[in-house]
Amino acid sequence: MVTVTFIHADESEQKVTGVAGSTVMQLAIDEGVEGIVAECGGGCACATCHCYIGDGWVELAGPPNDFETEMLDGTAAQRKENSRLSCQITLSDELDGLIVHLPEEQ
Ligand code: FES
Repeated sequence: MVTVTFIHADESEQKVTGVAGSTVMQLAIDEGVEGIVAECGGGCACATCHCYIGDGWVELAGPPNDFETEMLDGTAAQRKENSRLSCQITLSDELDGLIVHLPEEQ
């Protein structure tokens, strides 16, 4: 199992657990984490699953690919160096403990 802590814009924390092979976005949707909209259902086509990867996790989460990088230009909230689209992050055992910050808007 992979535990992810979502930190909302108001700094409240929500810790949820999912399975390797799923995505951070899917986990958020399944567990009712507000702040991830995911209009396109994970197709990397809406940028409403924007998140910021927590300190110390950016390398493990990996960089966005070229298409995701383009989509990140269209996020509602400010794009930062640690911005990712959560539908493009696959849960794995090495991401157990991942910290994900949620933007104020999607
Ligand atoms: S769910 Fe649409 S881009 Fe991630």
